[in-house]
Amino acid sequence: MTWWPRTLLWRSVLLIAALLLVAHLAWLQIFRASEIEPRALQAAQQVVSVVNLTRAALVTADPGRRFALLDELAQREGIQVYAGDPAEAVPALPDRPFLRIMEARLRDQLGSQTRLSLEREGIPGFWVSFRIDNEEFWVSLPRSRVERNMPLRWIGWGALVLALALIGAFLAVSRVNRPLRELTRAAEQLGRGATPPQVAEDGPAEIRTLSRAFNQMAADLRRQDEERALLLAGVSHDLRTPLARIRLALEMLDDRGTASLKAGVAEDIGDIDAAIGQFLDFARPVDAEMVTGDTDLNALARAVTERYLRSGRTVRFTPSALPPLPLRAQAMQRVLTNLIDNALRHGGGAAEVVTGRFEGGAYLEVLDRGPGIPATDAQRMLQPFTRMDSARSTSGTGLGLAIVDRIARLHGGAIRLLPREGGGLRARVELPSAAQAE
Ligand SMILES: Nc1ncnc2c1ncn2[C@@H]1O[C@H](COP(=O)(O)OP(=O)(O)O)[C@@H](O)[C@H]1O
Ligand SMILES: [Mg+2]
Repeated sequence: MTWWPRTLLWRSVLLIAALLLVAHLAWLQIFRASEIEPRALQAAQQVVSVVNLTRAALVTADPGRRFALLDELAQREGIQVYAGDPAEAVPALPDRPFLRIMEARLRDQLGSQTRLSLEREGIPGFWVSFRIDNEEFWVSLPRSRVERNMPLRWIGWGALVLALALIGAFLAVSRVNRPLRELTRAAEQLGRGATPPQVAEDGPAEIRTLSRAFNQMAADLRRQDEERALLLAGVSHDLRTPLARIRLALEMLDDRGTASLKAGVAEDIGDIDAAIGQFLDFARPVDAEMVTGDTDLNALARAVTERYLRSGRTVRFTPSALPPLPLRAQAMQRVLTNLIDNALRHGGGAAEVVTGRFEGGAYLEVLDRGPGIPATDAQRMLQPFTRMDSARSTSGTGLGLAIVDRIARLHGGAIRLLPREGGGLRARVELPSAAQAE
């Protein structure tokens, strides 16, 4: 059913249009049925008058003036009178309700020997026979004088009423549709993890209730987010502060025979600290940061990669010209560090960062020469707390890719974990340009 529209608006309008049309046709039919009898009786009465007048004229006029009289009737009224033969056969009236009613009335008024036909000797007309002293005569009236059809005017008015009703239906349905569209947009934003603006609580009662419930839900979610952020900030503060103190204490211990022990403890503290950082990032409401309309992704990537280089890690950066993008700078830094950390940790120790543009936006790729991620596991790895093989890497929370995925989606983009040509992983984040993002 390709003609059946997909939107609620047009489906409803079409349905209402069909109902109106059926109702309108039904009314026309009822109207016709109820006015057919009075119309037929009226027409019959006219024919009776014509016949009686004609007969009276023929009987009373003196023979010399008869022809002049008949001629005048024909000229002025389109009524023709002919002499006939009782033995002559004429086609009977067609079986239509209107004609049946007329026939009954005419026989009743003009006598049962009256004959009627819509055609005599090949000439169309409304033919009625009458007798004067056993001689048969035929009167012919123009058919349009007898059988008038329903005037076109009626159909015109009907069409007008129908058109008005349709416009009304369109307005009514689109009134319901507008808030629904707004709600859909807000729900989509909420689904992406953004904070939608309040939807207007107006319109019909049901829609109003729905909007209110939606606003309530969005507010609840927001409050929960805030509470969670607060909680996590508290926990991390309570954990990180003692961790920092332990680290400091370790440094100050004198290192007689405890050097390797110290190094081990310091590394553990580093891991715990990193894990807390990941938890925090994951729990942070991602859209708290404002979007900057013209972020330079290349400058951002260069700053991040240089930080890695300074701490002695191999991260190569190959930029190419990009359009300014509507991005959250801190969130994008988190994307970069998570992907580079993964390449360094799971992907063999060297990372390459590449930027470029594609139809509709820009992409950012982090590549390595490690074992890669099989296509069948790629989607699963984006879930929080999932890791390929817990034995392969000892530390890590399994949150890194989930954070990247969430940030990418918040920007209307996506992350894809692809195999790199020649081995390794190609983690590609696609970001739509300003026009696409809207
Ligand atoms: N560059 C990569 N090469 C190979 N495997 C990777 C790479 N990046 C991520 N993975 C796999 O995906 C899993 C999930 O990654 P992530 O969400 O960052 O969690 P984490 O790094 O804390 O383990 C990792 O445990 C690893 O098994
Ligand atoms: Mg990681």
